[in-house]
Amino acid sequence: MASADKKHMAREKSTHFTYPARPASAIDFSGSEIAKKIKSGEFKIAIYGLGHVGSPMASVWLRAGAHVIGVDKSHTVLERASKGESHVPEPGVNDAFASGLATKRFEIYKDPTKASHDSYFKMICVPVLLSNNNRSPDLTAVKEVSSAIGRGLKKGDVVALNPSVPPGTTEDLVLPILEKESGLEVENDFYMIYNPERIYEGRAIQDIEERYPAVISGAGSKSLELGKIIYSLIFKKGVLSVSNIKTAETEKLLEGVYRDVNIALANELAKFCEKIGVNFWESRDAANSQPFCHLHSPGVGVGGACIPVYPQFILYAAEKVKVDCDITKLGRAVNDAMPAYCVREAVKLLNGKKKMEDESLDRATVTLLGLAFRGGVSDTRLSPTYDVIKEFQKMGVKEIRVHDPLVKSDPLLLKHQNVILSSNLTSALNGTDLIMIVADHAEYRALSPDLIGVPIYDGRGILDRTIFTHASYATIGIGSSKY
Ligand SMILES: NC(=O)c1ccc[n+]([C@@H]2O[C@H](COP(=O)([O-])OP(=O)(O)OC[C@H]3O[C@@H](n4cnc5c(N)ncnc54)[C@H](O)[C@@H]3O)[C@@H](O)[C@H]2O)c1
Repeated sequence: MASADKKHMAREKSTHFTYPARPASAIDFSGSEIAKKIKSGEFKIAIYGLGHVGSPMASVWLRAGAHVIGVDKSHTVLERASKGESHVPEPGVNDAFASGLATKRFEIYKDPTKASHDSYFKMICVPVLLSNNNRSPDLTAVKEVSSAIGRGLKKGDVVALNPSVPPGTTEDLVLPILEKESGLEVENDFYMIYNPERIYEGRAIQDIEERYPAVISGAGSKSLELGKIIYSLIFKKGVLSVSNIKTAETEKLLEGVYRDVNIALANELAKFCEKIGVNFWESRDAANSQPFCHLHSPGVGVGGACIPVYPQFILYAAEKVKVDCDITKLGRAVNDAMPAYCVREAVKLLNGKKKMEDESLDRATVTLLGLAFRGGVSDTRLSPTYDVIKEFQKMGVKEIRVHDPLVKSDPLLLKHQNVILSSNLTSALNGTDLIMIVADHAEYRALSPDLIGVPIYDGRGILDRTIFTHASYATIGIGSSKY
């Protein structure tokens, strides 16, 4: 957008603004003053989106003594938060919510514009997933929240975008919305930060507070300075500032692509090792003892809201500037093909010989262990289990049982008549014909061959192969000598 247009949009008064004007917050670049105001509750912090990222982020601010306003568009999420509970099973979150409510430092708002009006620092933690057959980013939630924040924005306020986004999103999409809705100008009237969230689900609070430095970028030098002051209050590892927002947006995508391509390489080499009769895991461990080798783990698929999504953001942005990102694309294709590959390998076990016998499958019951996209979490977004189910359905199996210790219900599975979700491992295994490990939940590592008399395919390489020695057992990266 031309800068003249940007300025015009910034000055155009929003027609939605319904809250009385408030005096401008004093802009004080003294870190200790800002820290004091945040801790005293004078500078409130609004968190937009109380999900896997927003709930721990709200908790970390509450644990630091701040006054937090939680905003979400889901009534259920808001209702639970107002009782001191989160739908995200993240250690420490419920305690932080409950103590924040008890000390009146945690408020739940339905109205996102009022939350913006009543707060100093606003963190956008809503999701950016994929649309258009998993090819382009879906920025609907970011747009909605930016408009609402813009309508309540005041002079001196600070806004941070946190989700991983295609490079350029903050400056080309979010800032124009904020300026248009508020009639204010970034760097002169308000401040904009981009900070990519880098948590690992299951230990998010610890990651923010102790494990990682915050990567911070700003729309200008004042925004960056404020970002460094604010984030230093909660990140013990400090702040890593980068020179501009696009660099920070790209940084997060590089992390994800590195992991996706590395997993694809591990998958390719695991399949190769299976064919030449080498134990990939043993070979990989030896290779990784060399300090420049960091081969990841192969597996039945790559799921979750991050790793399979970020390469698509790179590919989407690369198409616009006509750059071929062939390795990124190939990595996605290799990983997307893993569920079908593993199902074919598992079915070989069921038939007890190299060639599948489709005729026998219509009488078979298959048990899939794990619906979450990985072990230790209940998050099922883009889980490879859904693709595994599709593959078994294509083969016409009679019944598919899905076990997960952490996922109690799943609307996507309800659509399938012959798919049953259970959190009782004994009943999920009872009378089944084939078991496939899809997620590496800790309890599956403890499975004993004495209890399992049917073929088992370990799609994560977690079972102890020295005790699983029976003929109808196979592991990704090793295969089965009995094929
Ligand atoms: N989950 C992770 O481990 C992780 C890690 C790093 C980064 N991220 C990034 O963080 C983003 C958010 O992910 P998440 O896992 O927290 O998502 P999530 O789905 O767990 O939570 C998002 C929350 O936002 C709410 N929401 C959606 N649209 C809204 C709107 N318009 N207004 C208000 N609330 C709205 C939802 O109801 C939900 O509670 C992801 O897109 C990703 O880029 C996620």
